[in-house]
Amino acid sequence: MDKMNRKRWMTVIGLLGCLLCFWVGEVFGYEFKLPPLPYEKSALAPVISRETMEFHYGKHLKGYLDNLNSLVPGTPFEGADLPTIVKYATGPIYDNGAQALNHILYFNTFSAEPAHEPTGALAEAIARKWSTFEDFKKAFSEAGVSLFGSGWVWLVKDRNGDLFILQESNAGNPLSKGYTPLLGIDVWEHAYYLDYRNKRADYMENIWKIIDWDTVEARY
Ligand SMILES: [Fe+2]
Repeated sequence: MDKMNRKRWMTVIGLLGCLLCFWVGEVFGYEFKLPPLPYEKSALAPVISRETMEFHYGKHLKGYLDNLNSLVPGTPFEGADLPTIVKYATGPIYDNGAQALNHILYFNTFSAEPAHEPTGALAEAIARKWSTFEDFKKAFSEAGVSLFGSGWVWLVKDRNGDLFILQESNAGNPLSKGYTPLLGIDVWEHAYYLDYRNKRADYMENIWKIIDWDTVEARY
């Protein structure tokens, strides 16, 4: 095969590959879609207002998912789920994948009628580490307030079931460090500025009212 023919064949194979990727994506739904909220947008008010939900869920989370849908096709992450992307991707695919997963965990942590305290194995693990649930809440809130700039404060577990509070900048998700995320609170200004202005401490104090500990415990 001469050089010209080889080039034509490579072009045809490349085009067929693109068509196959597109077909697989269409048939198997390899597109990240905005997952529905488990409550009405106004259900968490006044802790989180409807307006914040409209922007935070409807614009920010949707934006991260839309970005992924632009970035992932044609990469080794085509067809991968969000945890896989968070564990193995770098750069913009990691940033948008981690932010998408972080926000999905965050929005699914809340309830208008939450279980206000953990029970069972998670309650025991908290007691082992911080003595009391109140001491844990104080340490977690302080971590959220003192994190410099944008990021997340996490309650995570390691392989032994031991608990840790992590401060992560920007999109940081604990999966990329081998931990299992149990509770993640967004301390980017977009999470609280409409409702609390610059008072991140007030946001951290009020957020306990809507955290559903049955959901957090299920992740443990
Ligand atoms: Fe956010």
